[in-house]
Amino acid sequence: MKTFKICLLYLLPLMSFSTNSADKSNGETIYTTGKNLQGEKMLDKSASRIKIVHNCKTCHGVKGDRMDDVSIKFSDLSDPSKHRIPYNDSLFFRFLDEDLFSDGTKANIGVIWKISDSDKKDLLEYLKSL
Ligand code: HEC
Repeated sequence: MKTFKICLLYLLPLMSFSTNSADKSNGETIYTTGKNLQGEKMLDKSASRIKIVHNCKTCHGVKGDRMDDVSIKFSDLSDPSKHRIPYNDSLFFRFLDEDLFSDGTKANIGVIWKISDSDKKDLLEYLKSL
């Protein structure tokens, strides 16, 4: 019994630590907070017209489909019945880098991102999970 208690004493903090860090992926963190797990901000404030919204969730909603006609769930972005030119991974990355829709027209939404390649991949993985 004593050994059991001692084990519990050591294991509990470890268990709660591991559930905490598994709580949110880097992609989900970027989507919901606009910062990656290291705390780096994704919004390029000087290039953006809209400076008060820092994350995707505020505009696109928890599931990516808050706005009528604009769902950014990747299953919708890549659906040929919803987009004349469906998004693929590289067109999504181009959207983030160059502010261009999949058909090459200027998005001009007012928010410009500076995101590293690995953060972009994590964010895309998250949109694929929505
Ligand atoms: C200030 C609000 C706002 C924020 C913040 C925002 N978006 Fe958007 N986003 C929009 C609007 C509005 C549109 C639709 C523009 C249009 O169709 O004319 C859009 C469109 C898009 C599109 C293109 C959809 C299409 O139909 O081609 C993608 C992809 C996208 N957003 C991804 C993101 C991601 C990823 C983030 C976070 C990094 C983000 N957005 C943050 C407002 C926002």
